[in-house]
Amino acid sequence: MKQTWGVQMVPTDLEKGIGIAIVVILAVMSLVILSVILLTPGKKSCLEEKRQQSRDVLKLALRTREGHVLSFSLTSNLTSTLVDNSSVVSYSNTAIEDRGQISGLCLSICVCSRDLLELNPPEREKAVLQYASWGPQGSQLAYVFDGDIYYKPSATSKALRLTIADLEQNVVNGLSDWTYEEEVLLTYVAHWWSMDGARLAYLTINNSATPVMEIPHFLGGLYPSNVLFPYPKAGSSIPSVSLFVVNLYGPAHTLEMMPPDSLRASYISMVTWISSTRLAVRWLNRAQNQSVLCVCEATTGACSEKHKMAMDIMQNKRQDVPLFSADGSVFYTILPAKQGARGEFQHIAGLSAQPAIPSVPPRFLTSGSWDVTFLCALDEKAGKMYVIVTVCGDGVDLDGVFQRRCISCTLMDGCRFFKAEFSPNQTHFILYCLGPGIPKVTVHNTKDPSSKCYICLSHLFITVQVAVKSYFMSPVLQPMIPGLSPYLLILFVLSLRDGVPGSQSVTEEFSLDWPQVLSGTHNVALAWVDGRSGVGRGQKTTTVDPRKLGSVRVKDYLGVVELLMQLPYIDDRRIVLYGKAFGGYLTLKMLAATDNVFQCTAAVAPITDFRLYSAAFSERYLGLPAKEEHAYSTASLLEEVNKLKDERFLILHGTADARVHFQHSAELLSRLVKVEANYSLQLYPDEGHVLREAHSIQHFQRTVVNYLQSCLKHSILLDPIEDDEEEDD
Ligand SMILES: *[C@@H]1O[C@H](CO)[C@@H](O)[C@H](O)[C@H]1NC(C)=O
Ligand SMILES: *[C@@H]1O[C@H](CO)[C@@H](O)[C@H](O)[C@H]1NC(C)=O
Ligand SMILES: *[C@@H]1O[C@H](CO)[C@@H](O)[C@H](O)[C@H]1NC(C)=O
Ligand SMILES: *[C@@H]1O[C@H](CO)[C@@H](O)[C@H](O)[C@H]1NC(C)=O
Ligand SMILES: *[C@@H]1O[C@H](CO)[C@@H](O)[C@H](O)[C@H]1NC(C)=O
Ligand SMILES: *[C@@H]1O[C@H](CO)[C@@H](O)[C@H](O)[C@H]1NC(C)=O
Repeated sequence: MKQTWGVQMVPTDLEKGIGIAIVVILAVMSLVILSVILLTPGKKSCLEEKRQQSRDVLKLALRTREGHVLSFSLTSNLTSTLVDNSSVVSYSNTAIEDRGQISGLCLSICVCSRDLLELNPPEREKAVLQYASWGPQGSQLAYVFDGDIYYKPSATSKALRLTIADLEQNVVNGLSDWTYEEEVLLTYVAHWWSMDGARLAYLTINNSATPVMEIPHFLGGLYPSNVLFPYPKAGSSIPSVSLFVVNLYGPAHTLEMMPPDSLRASYISMVTWISSTRLAVRWLNRAQNQSVLCVCEATTGACSEKHKMAMDIMQNKRQDVPLFSADGSVFYTILPAKQGARGEFQHIAGLSAQPAIPSVPPRFLTSGSWDVTFLCALDEKAGKMYVIVTVCGDGVDLDGVFQRRCISCTLMDGCRFFKAEFSPNQTHFILYCLGPGIPKVTVHNTKDPSSKCYICLSHLFITVQVAVKSYFMSPVLQPMIPGLSPYLLILFVLSLRDGVPGSQSVTEEFSLDWPQVLSGTHNVALAWVDGRSGVGRGQKTTTVDPRKLGSVRVKDYLGVVELLMQLPYIDDRRIVLYGKAFGGYLTLKMLAATDNVFQCTAAVAPITDFRLYSAAFSERYLGLPAKEEHAYSTASLLEEVNKLKDERFLILHGTADARVHFQHSAELLSRLVKVEANYSLQLYPDEGHVLREAHSIQHFQRTVVNYLQSCLKHSILLDPIEDDEEEDD
């Protein structure tokens, strides 16, 4: 399910037509589900009228909590309503969680006449609209029906079919398949408009050789129905991918961008336009330890290699978009730089994009014991680059060759975790303050003296460093009231993206979910831990054998647990683990590796064997199963059931999980039954990796809380200590 913080990007073509630079969202704190809304000008005269009125006005569109779509003028500071919520209420929210069934609804609303314009597939009946997007010019738009891209030069003109997909063969154009959305591009959209709207680049993902996964749906019929979709498991055929560019002005003309010879059977992890005729593309080999950044000429299809590098698997840098100078001669990217004895940190590197002169080392623009995590924008005229770094503020010296300045450090009280988006000419930026206080979104002018050179994202948190480990306990969630009994501790082995390596769960991002509620009502202390990999925390990164994916992290987590157990306010006899997917895997691994340390464990949709998991993920860390049999066996949980036999744990799994198939739990359960293990199980029929139904979500939360309570009550280790508050509920 796609959820965002009350933030809905509403591409208003009308507004863009009159020179809008940025699309901004000011609504705060209401959960909405991402859907596609198109606002199209119906009558030309209306559009032109508006255009004349406000040629030089910077405007942005925003969607409020109530659902009104407003227009805000940055120059006059005036807000006007574009569409009120009564016109938009009927759009359907279609969660696109599980790639198995892709559906979506697209509405287009005319701002001027308030007409609805339906997008129809020109040829097929009952085709499913999968996506629609505006182009940069006028009201041109592209949309995808059943794996095919259609193009309209303007909202009212006739649609042109750009591709012919073979659905029998599982070929999709312009959108990601399961693998690309979840593991490679990390976006659903796999098409990119050139800046002038004259060309459209898109991926063709061919899954004809990929094995098909069947997900049974049990409810509502005499026989279950199966949802089928291509899902390459470790070692099986992966989708083949090609990048095409189609010329939109004049007769449609399509060219394939040719990959470097060495990377024909591989992944494309990043595509971006760097001028109206050139694109930067990153190809990855199947092992994902080698990447090649190329610049492709859209007019000829020729691609030249600009930078070949070994990929640090533990750093999630595969999707990073480099910034190119306007003439294309230089580009900037984030590369690891040695900082003396302190180890390697991520810094901005400038590289020549001229025909490869070998062994020209990158020129680093920054240095120091901190990480650059994201390049926002390059303003060549002013000689400025806007980037996001992990630490900033008074305490940290951003030393280096170039002058720099933190923009966000002093902008807002209570904000230390940011995201930023810049307008095309870097005149304004949207600042998303994501925590630790209540999230808010603001718009700023880059010329403002208080915001000169840098955007700074700080992930400052309370850190205790023990060798390479760090842990975090939110002060809010650990109310130290003298005289109260020690707290039960729940250790969360989960994070964004289910705790996968390279993701970061210890941040100052605002969050209000059931763990926080638990802490408020049940005297529970919560701890989130990031294992080794040192991502985004201004900390020395270490090289870890990726094949020791599980064991190294288990060791790290257990070290942190030891440390936590020594804290005076933590009851070391009541420690609980919770994790999902990869986190669920780690919790069960930790349980298997210890004896009576954890009183109970809840594992949600745990990965139990990486042979059953996605090729793009498993192979990245463990290699091909045929060659790395030992690594796969060591990593598997299935061989450790004997160690889980006498432990207490709860497994929760949705049977229609398209990411971690129920098969994972099934394999584990059959072995647990064989050894007569005492486990608990909660299934959610036809639910996916993210529970969808409100009553399932509530049931899930209640089940976990009740399980933890009863399990702690029965714990043989637990002396009858007085802790009424903990147990009454
Ligand atoms: C951005 O800059 C370009 C060229 O410098 C100019 O043509 C364009 O009008 C500018 N756009 C805005 C929104 O200021
Ligand atoms: C529309 O907005 C009004 C207030 O402006 C609000 O009372 C109403 O609940 C909103 N309707 C929907 C469906 O959000
Ligand atoms: C714009 O309006 C808001 C409130 O309506 C006010 O706080 C702000 O100072 C105004 N900004 C300018 C530049 O006039
Ligand atoms: C997809 O790949 C298969 C071979 O794996 C090939 O026969 C087929 O023509 C391809 N389809 C497209 C549309 O590229
Ligand atoms: C990438 O991984 C493969 C398989 O694990 C290995 O054979 C190869 O040497 C590696 N290449 C690089 C550049 O590390
Ligand atoms: C299994 O666990 C339950 C509590 O979860 C406990 O009541 C029961 O005695 C246990 N059975 C065995 C055989 O350990």
